[in-house]
Amino acid sequence: MKGEGMMRWVLVLVLLTLSLCGVPVSATDHIVGANRGWNPGINYTLWSNNQTFFVGDLISFRYQKTQYNVFEVNQTGYDNCTTQGAIGNWSSGKDFIPLKKAQRYYFICGNGQCFNGMKVSILVHPLPPPPPAHPPHASAHKSAAPRLHLPALLSSLSSFVWLAWNHI
Ligand SMILES: *[C@@H]1O[C@H](CO)[C@@H](O)[C@H](O)[C@H]1NC(C)=O
Ligand SMILES: *[C@@H]1O[C@H](CO)[C@@H](O)[C@H](O)[C@H]1NC(C)=O
Ligand SMILES: *[C@@H]1O[C@H](CO)[C@@H](O)[C@H](O)[C@H]1NC(C)=O
Ligand SMILES: *[C@@H]1O[C@H](CO)[C@@H](O)[C@H](O)[C@H]1NC(C)=O
Ligand SMILES: *[C@@H]1O[C@H](CO)[C@@H](O)[C@H](O)[C@H]1NC(C)=O
Repeated sequence: MKGEGMMRWVLVLVLLTLSLCGVPVSATDHIVGANRGWNPGINYTLWSNNQTFFVGDLISFRYQKTQYNVFEVNQTGYDNCTTQGAIGNWSSGKDFIPLKKAQRYYFICGNGQCFNGMKVSILVHPLPPPPPAHPPHASAHKSAAPRLHLPALLSSLSSFVWLAWNHI
């Protein structure tokens, strides 16, 4: 009897560990231009149309810091390639910018290269609702863009515990 109870707890712990390992734990880092980076002559509309941005994700710009930079501007700045009244600026060559709000963001290069295509506009979505707790394996549907969602994590953990408890 005692051994049986012990086995049950061991199994629960193993399942907990496995489920934790399977749960994605990081926000998505959207690298502008993917392996082409932040450079002139690239259509970043094509790049951004191929991404889904959520609150809590990062957008990152990789470029030669001696040549380019990044300004966050409003729609006027984006349309006209002007940095007047910019909301922010970065120039490290490897800039990670957190996307904190569900809104449209505009980024341009501030040294004239905006006119050569160095501008990108993205729409950041609110976090998707957590997946339903039933059936318990719903969380197995992994999205292409993994992210941490604590309520979903806790609900899938409790499903595992419940299953383990009742099916041994
Ligand atoms: C970039 O691609 C989009 C979508 O195909 C297109 O509408 C836009 O005109 C292109 N921009 C440039 C500067 O070529
Ligand atoms: C869109 O994303 C997919 C998967 O990441 C990639 O294979 C494809 O080349 C991308 N297309 C464009 C136009 O960037
Ligand atoms: C932006 O450019 C458009 C057309 O090029 C012009 O009509 C508008 O006045 C400009 N806006 C600003 C704020 O410079
Ligand atoms: C963008 O910012 C500029 C400068 O602060 C301002 O003149 C302009 O009206 C703003 N445009 C929008 C669409 O908010
Ligand atoms: C860049 O941002 C800093 C604050 O982070 C500000 O002091 C500076 O004026 C900005 N530079 C330009 C060119 O807007």
